[in-house]
Amino acid sequence: MNATVTPMLRLKGVEVVYPNGIVGLKPTSLAFERRAFTVLLGLSGAGKSTLLRSLNHLVAPTSGSVVVEGIETLDETESLRTHRRQTAMIFQQHQLIGRYTCLQNVLVGRLGHYSMWRTLLPFAEADRRLALDCLDRVGLLSRALQRVYNLSGGQQQRVGIARAIAQQPSLILADEPVASLDPETAHRVLGMLHEITKQDDIPTIVSLHQVELAKAFADRIVGLNDGEVVFDGPPSDLDDVALDRIYERSTATAPEAYTTEAAE
Ligand SMILES: Nc1ncnc2c1ncn2[C@@H]1O[C@H](COP(=O)(O)OP(=O)(O)OP(=O)(O)O)[C@@H](O)[C@H]1O
Ligand SMILES: [Mg+2]
Repeated sequence: MNATVTPMLRLKGVEVVYPNGIVGLKPTSLAFERRAFTVLLGLSGAGKSTLLRSLNHLVAPTSGSVVVEGIETLDETESLRTHRRQTAMIFQQHQLIGRYTCLQNVLVGRLGHYSMWRTLLPFAEADRRLALDCLDRVGLLSRALQRVYNLSGGQQQRVGIARAIAQQPSLILADEPVASLDPETAHRVLGMLHEITKQDDIPTIVSLHQVELAKAFADRIVGLNDGEVVFDGPPSDLDDVALDRIYERSTATAPEAYTTEAAE
């Protein structure tokens, strides 16, 4: 393995202050390497989605910068477009089109690769083959021609992952991708994302509310509290002191509590 690993992505002093004055993320510097499966933990309102979204400027940093390998600066419209095209996002709500088949939904992941006029033409055979291969990787090849609304929540989320990898991304950002799944399915879906991270040699950054899943899959855990990184290390370092720091409620955080089954 390469001794000097160049981070694929860096946050350099990124701060996000929303228009209403709420600080979503205090000035934060982090570097993300290839093949690293990073999990963001924190209470509701801690800043997990803000951090994730700042990574492809879905939320624009108020100050600081996001630096992407191979791209000079994200301030240019064209470079931001390139970065977004190579960033796959997976959400709790998979945002699939229910009346489309699994294959059609996965093919949507290819759209970013084409200019506007080209998207009006049928997909090339190579795209269809790639989409089928992605469905195969998430164990849903036999369902390729079924409409998505006939699938279970876990299967739909796997179609969402297949669509994300059909994009052939160089970065995956997943915001609570398993929040609505039962524990066994959540484990399976995260396992797939973990495997893809290693096989495709890309960084994946996932926000989760389940400490036990973070411990099972993460190479690295970043804990946030009130917009600030309060822990950054391997799962083996996530002891009770670290968990207290992450899940300690400051007066500024949102009112509703999350119970983490893992914190026994
Ligand atoms: N669009 C917005 N406008 C104003 N404030 C926002 C906006 N989005 C988030 N915030 C605030 O920024 C802070 C961080 O929110 P964020 O959504 O990043 O938290 P989170 O860790 O993802 O929480 P959850 O676990 O509930 O998804 C919170 O105080 C939240 O209320
Ligand atoms: Mg969130």
